[in-house]
Amino acid sequence: MRPMTKLEADFNTALHGHALDVEARLAMLADGYLEPSPAARLVEAMRYGLLGGGKRLRPFLVIESARLFGVPAEIALNTAAALECVHCYSLIHDDLPAMDDDDLRRGRPTVHKAFDEATAILAGDGLLTFAFEILAMPGTHVDTSIRTELVLELARASGASGMAGGQMLDLQAETRKLPVASTLQLQAMKTGALIRFGCIAGAILGKASPDSCTALDRYGRTLGAAFQISDDLLDAEGDSAVVGKATAKDAASGKATLVGQMGIAGARQELQRLVTSATDALRDFGDRAAPLAEAARFMAVRRS
Ligand code: IPE
Ligand code: IPE
Ligand code: MG
Ligand code: MG
Ligand code: MG
Repeated sequence: MRPMTKLEADFNTALHGHALDVEARLAMLADGYLEPSPAARLVEAMRYGLLGGGKRLRPFLVIESARLFGVPAEIALNTAAALECVHCYSLIHDDLPAMDDDDLRRGRPTVHKAFDEATAILAGDGLLTFAFEILAMPGTHVDTSIRTELVLELARASGASGMAGGQMLDLQAETRKLPVASTLQLQAMKTGALIRFGCIAGAILGKASPDSCTALDRYGRTLGAAFQISDDLLDAEGDSAVVGKATAKDAASGKATLVGQMGIAGARQELQRLVTSATDALRDFGDRAAPLAEAARFMAVRRS
């Protein structure tokens, strides 16, 4: 395996630092608000899906986009935790036999393997709902209009026009050949919408100017597209032991990916173009946006 570049090592360190903070917040929220439920098995499955590893990239985006506007990590952490809840729910359901039928996630058995299918469905439902409970909590932001805007945007990013809609199109594409433009649209929905939310959440928390909102919106959309291409490249070329999930499945199951439509070299070229475009979108923020620019560059080199 190729040695780790400095960019990769430095970004992994930064990601890990934020991951510890968000995991502590997730554990605190789970202890306070899930634990009292008498449905102990459900809470156990939710904790398993939420707290067992993962890069915590989306929380990183919330924390770093908020920091651009002087919002401390402490204030961004509930929003970061809420987004991670939606993401973890999406993974639990994505792995179900009725969807991608995967047994391995984050290097461990998937939730339906560790528990059972019905419990995995309910754990997903519970985490999706918990995300909105967290956003509505007074501790998420003192300003109710900011909390409402976060709820609105996360709902849009998660629902029929966002992640859930994209997952529908992803499954339908297994049995019909899509043009590249439709593949881009489905990926923008299934993956891009939550990543974009992570980027604009900072602008919402920081009451950013319209120009800053537009810049983060562009960065988030571009990063989301880059992220799914790199996920699809990991499926085609990655090592399952390192990636922590099954690889070499997308082509066999007929998934609509740019790797399938453009080949590995073509997808890699498009990924590089998107990385450049994402960093360009951050230009007006100057050095303050260095961590977000590193996140974009990381897309082209990540191995998990
Ligand atoms: C995987 O997301 C699912 C996609 C949207 C492609 P991540 O690669 O961020 O998964 P974790 O959270 O690090 O496990
Ligand atoms: C999943 O895309 C996107 C989600 C909304 C979870 P994939 O199906 O490619 O994600 P992995 O490869 O299983 O993580
Ligand atoms: Mg899938
Ligand atoms: Mg999958
Ligand atoms: Mg994948």
